Amino acid sequence: MTMKTQLLMSMMLFGSLVTADTVNIIPKPTEVQTKTGVFELNNSTTILYSEGSQMQAQQLNDYLKPATGYDLKIMRASRSSGNTILLKMDVDLANVGEEGYTLDVGKDRIVITAKTDAGLFYGIQTLRQLSPTEIYSGSKAAVGWQIPCVQIKDSPTYPWRGMMLDVSRYFFEKEYVIRYMEMMAMHKLNVLHLHIVDDPGWRIEIDKYPKLTEIGGFRGKGVKKYGGYYTKEDIREIVEHANRLQIEIVPEIELPAHCQSALAAYPWLGCTQQQLEVPTTCYISREILCAGRESTYKFLEEVMTEVIDMFPGRFIHVGGDEAKYDRWKQCPDCKKKMQDENLKEYKHLQGYMTRRIEKFLMTKNRRLIGWDEILDGGLAPNATVMTWHRPKTAVEAAKSGNNVVMALTGHAYFDTPESKLPGEPPAATWLPPISLQKAYEWEPVPASLSADEKKFILGAHGCLWTDRFMHNPILQDLATMDENRSFQYVDYLSLPRMSALAEVTWTPQKMRSWEDFANRQAIQYNRYTAGKYHFRVPQPVVQKPVKMTDGYKISMASPVNGAQLRYTTDGSYPTVRSALYTQPISVDNPQDFSAITVVNKRHASLAFKFPEDKNKRFAKYGVKIGEWKSGKVSAGTYKPVKFDATGKINKNGTYEVTFLYTGGEQRLDIEKVEVIVNGKVVARDVHQGTTGGQNKDNTYTLKITNYETGANYTIQANVMGDTGNDSNGVVMLKAVQ
Ligand code: ACM
Ligand code: ZN
Repeated sequence: MTMKTQLLMSMMLFGSLVTADTVNIIPKPTEVQTKTGVFELNNSTTILYSEGSQMQAQQLNDYLKPATGYDLKIMRASRSSGNTILLKMDVDLANVGEEGYTLDVGKDRIVITAKTDAGLFYGIQTLRQLSPTEIYSGSKAAVGWQIPCVQIKDSPTYPWRGMMLDVSRYFFEKEYVIRYMEMMAMHKLNVLHLHIVDDPGWRIEIDKYPKLTEIGGFRGKGVKKYGGYYTKEDIREIVEHANRLQIEIVPEIELPAHCQSALAAYPWLGCTQQQLEVPTTCYISREILCAGRESTYKFLEEVMTEVIDMFPGRFIHVGGDEAKYDRWKQCPDCKKKMQDENLKEYKHLQGYMTRRIEKFLMTKNRRLIGWDEILDGGLAPNATVMTWHRPKTAVEAAKSGNNVVMALTGHAYFDTPESKLPGEPPAATWLPPISLQKAYEWEPVPASLSADEKKFILGAHGCLWTDRFMHNPILQDLATMDENRSFQYVDYLSLPRMSALAEVTWTPQKMRSWEDFANRQAIQYNRYTAGKYHFRVPQPVVQKPVKMTDGYKISMASPVNGAQLRYTTDGSYPTVRSALYTQPISVDNPQDFSAITVVNKRHASLAFKFPEDKNKRFAKYGVKIGEWKSGKVSAGTYKPVKFDATGKINKNGTYEVTFLYTGGEQRLDIEKVEVIVNGKVVARDVHQGTTGGQNKDNTYTLKITNYETGANYTIQANVMGDTGNDSNGVVMLKAVQ
């Protein structure tokens, strides 16, 4: 199939007019006016710059050079004619934001104007995307370099467009961090949050405390010893690249919990002062910094001082999540501190610590940011809250005038896989999957805020935790000689969802549409391929089978521009050598049909299959006795729910009640199930069960011994949505003997 036919198909599918040679920019700019004609980039094109923009001119040349093979002339702008690209700084530029730009492509002149370095940089990123996608290639590509004439005016919606990379659970060498920032920059993302400290690894050199990296930077023994850290020189290099890419790095030094690596290095930091090891598996350690002794504060201030010297950005992240207070409860120093400071609860002791650190950071002209738990013990006045698991903390913080960054587990935890399809690489399973569409269809600002309060929401943030690298089976599966596979894995989790996040944070919500995005993303994949980014290939977009007199007709389209679709009709798993799709096909039974998207003849998606009929899928669990629905589930606390099982429990015997999640952002947790007859509990199964992205112990076994004919049988279960009320599913009952 030609590229044109495939595009035509996706046009039919999504009803849009996107093609490879029109404007396909991600994130979608705020204003685009197409014009006729093209600008021909050639080896006599000259890059002109106005005062102060020489660095950007060089950067543009660096971007264009590998794929075009041109080393363009760069000149200070003066009166000139001919084929030119002008980078123009204009601090008075009207009608664009601080990071905004205008881009005017004419037949013989391109002009990018902005009022900041960031604006010029984003204009350059857009110019790259107007070029043939091969421009992202690291080596010379044999294409013509026409750029469509267009006029663009563009500014981001939110100033904070971030990604977090967990370099503690898995240590990414600086080269990957730099590459990752390049990936972010092409999406106009501008904050890299480095989760640089956690229980299983301290990853940044601190001169005053060398054991933090000597001991805290490594875990395990002998051949199993694993670790690494960034030297000050590494950080200088990372920061230099970040500056060039208009990215602010936010380093996270976790306190008071999630820092056993530091306690292993300096046991006197902990309440017990016991020698600890750097954990080799991932769990939330109970070991935390002693909040009572002044030595802890001195340590933190000295560490922060060196961290501030290394990172020029405005924010320091202090973690604050998931602190368990067991050690504080046993510690005379912590108890005394609480008395001295008149603190009632342990969370207030954490609040005291956070506020003290904030005060210190303020003296260094830095701002504190922390996970949403920093709200619980009394929020520091200038602190910024990163809301990850409790959306209401964003509302609370914004209402009290604190800034907020949204990093919700349900939309932005990209360590969660995109699907539950067989073959999806193992990733975080504690949350339901986050598909590209789910990541895209997110409005990060809570609707309940007033227009004034909404201004406190700085933007949004995707998170890539790497705890699964320690758990089974990712790293264990990776042959040590092929370490690149772990990088590919992070690329895979990040792309294409980084595109979704880019548009969520850059493009005004009223301009966003999934279909339009999917069409532009079809071209964005070509850029990933050219740039050798290991993205997740999406499955073919298959339409509902059409019933014919004889069997069914199946039509599909490729979600990736120019990719092949390969399929089988005998129930087998398709491969890159299966039949090539060129036109709608006929099948006897849609259940036997399966198809994959194949990029570059070898990089394939997981197989598409029509979902099994839900009723059939659930039938093995018996009969349906009820369901739970989004909005109706208790959020975060167990509440009883009742289902009528009269007539379905109809004799003595053993029955199984199974909870099956069907959708929503939250999994359902179950703590017990009972059978009630005439107000009396006649059977009970108490155990923790979960149904969501993954099911665990979600079947409850109930034995009925004195069946009463004519009585009403009620199933009562204590359930809750994990962290919110967006969960749906069905409850099934089955007699097992
Ligand atoms: C977190 O996921 N513990 C912030
Ligand atoms: Zn203590």
